[in-house]
Amino acid sequence: MIVNLGHLAIGTVDLLAAFLFMFGLKRMSSPLTAPSGILAAGIGMLAAILVSFLYGLDAGAVAQPFLRMNLALAAGALLLGGGFAWWGGKTVAMTAMPQMVALYNGMGGGAAAAIAAVELFGNKAQTTTGLVVTLLGALIGAISFSGSLIAWAKLDDLLAKPMRVRGQQALNAVVLLLTLGVGGAIIATIGGWPNPYLALEPLIILFFGCALVFGVLLTLPIGGADMPVVISIYNAATGLAVGLQGFVLQNPAMMIAGMVVGAAGLLLTLLMAKAMNRSVSNILFTNFGPAVTQAPGDIKGSLRPTEAADAGIAMRYASSVIIVPGYGLAVAQAQQKLYEFVKLLQGAGVGVKFAIHPVAGRMPGQMDVLLAEAGVPYDMIFQLEDINDAFKDTDVALVIGANDVVNPAARTDKSSPIFGMPILNADQARQVYVVKRGQGKGYAGIVNALFYEDNCNMVYGDAAAVLTKMIEAVRGLGSKAVA
Ligand code: TAP
Repeated sequence: MIVNLGHLAIGTVDLLAAFLFMFGLKRMSSPLTAPSGILAAGIGMLAAILVSFLYGLDAGAVAQPFLRMNLALAAGALLLGGGFAWWGGKTVAMTAMPQMVALYNGMGGGAAAAIAAVELFGNKAQTTTGLVVTLLGALIGAISFSGSLIAWAKLDDLLAKPMRVRGQQALNAVVLLLTLGVGGAIIATIGGWPNPYLALEPLIILFFGCALVFGVLLTLPIGGADMPVVISIYNAATGLAVGLQGFVLQNPAMMIAGMVVGAAGLLLTLLMAKAMNRSVSNILFTNFGPAVTQAPGDIKGSLRPTEAADAGIAMRYASSVIIVPGYGLAVAQAQQKLYEFVKLLQGAGVGVKFAIHPVAGRMPGQMDVLLAEAGVPYDMIFQLEDINDAFKDTDVALVIGANDVVNPAARTDKSSPIFGMPILNADQARQVYVVKRGQGKGYAGIVNALFYEDNCNMVYGDAAAVLTKMIEAVRGLGSKAVA
């Protein structure tokens, strides 16, 4: 009776946790509701973890030294992992977020693979279906684990260049087929078929070894700049692996959460690929980003540098300004300074809005998070489709640390790698100021025709330093006016 009540409690809490995951995910779709969404999903996760200890108690762990030891190990792992994640989350720089996501995603895949390993070594998967599901989860989880670690190393510049060998795709195919073959041998051996060559344990080790190598081989050839999309793909894979292991363990919270993460990761991957106008297979199997270079070629016009103070004062006397933030703003960590400047403009009666491109920066939502961190009100922030028509009626577009997302070549140049990508119409504003340090290219490695347009001026310098000068110039105007 006690056992049944325990199982009822576990099942109820698991279902509640699964509901909280979905409810949280739904609320994460808007910056306004995202903090409470993260909290709800976090509470769900905590409940699912805590209630899983009841399984141990059900099995009489307190009475059995072996299970008692396991419970102590699990509690230790929770403290260690939770403590590290708490510290990591508090101290991570905004530009290092993609690395952190890659690392945590890899841990999820690794955890799913580890559950499968326990099941396989313990020979616990009874039915053939259960065994196939366990192996599938193990395969996907292990690939996601090693692939995510390579993605993390690339994003952290520990592995700089794409590493590709001749016949890469054939090699990958051979390793994948070998892994599947070993998986088949495991099923046959557990099913009682005579296997005079390898015992079960070495087969399981070989299976995991091959799957891990496949994850490495799949990820090494991909350029560092494509890693955010790759991580999103691995995120979907991790979700799927966790969902499959939830099926094996008959754990509803794991099943539902895994499938929700899998579906969300897949949708995010497709959205990112669409916003970059590339197919997922193009990202996985073709080099892009820093490898592509283009000379100014037949771009007409010239670059016209101007002083930060002049640009700041011009904006002070404009009636409307749209700000386009990009990756460089995150690099410079200049979001607070930017909002300080914006408040000065607003104080002088200038209408200011922010325009966000779906793939500005290096990870989804990076600009929204940056601006939220600086305290910019949400009603000043507009997504591409909601603001693009407004540029033509705007006095000034301030492009700060952005490049590809305002490159008009995406509209007109069929040979451009970003042709077809929707861009922000900053070039249609009456005056454009572009803040960047020098002649550095954006992620796509191409020249930006906007910088050569007659209505565009370049303000060279680190975004934070430039904004400091703009703020000083506008403040200086105020004190002169008072004097
Ligand atoms: P980018 O096109 O990468 O341009 C960033 C610009 O910022 C560079 O031209 C750089 O020029 C400038 N910059 C760098 N550090 C700076 C600093 N400290 N101060 C001022 N400027 C600085 O950025 P974007 O316009 O945001 O476009 C994002 C690109 O990343 C797109 O091509 C997109 O497809 C790609 N991408 C995005 C994602 C996601 S999900 N967001 C994922 C993968 C790829 P200087 O060196 O001259 O300063």
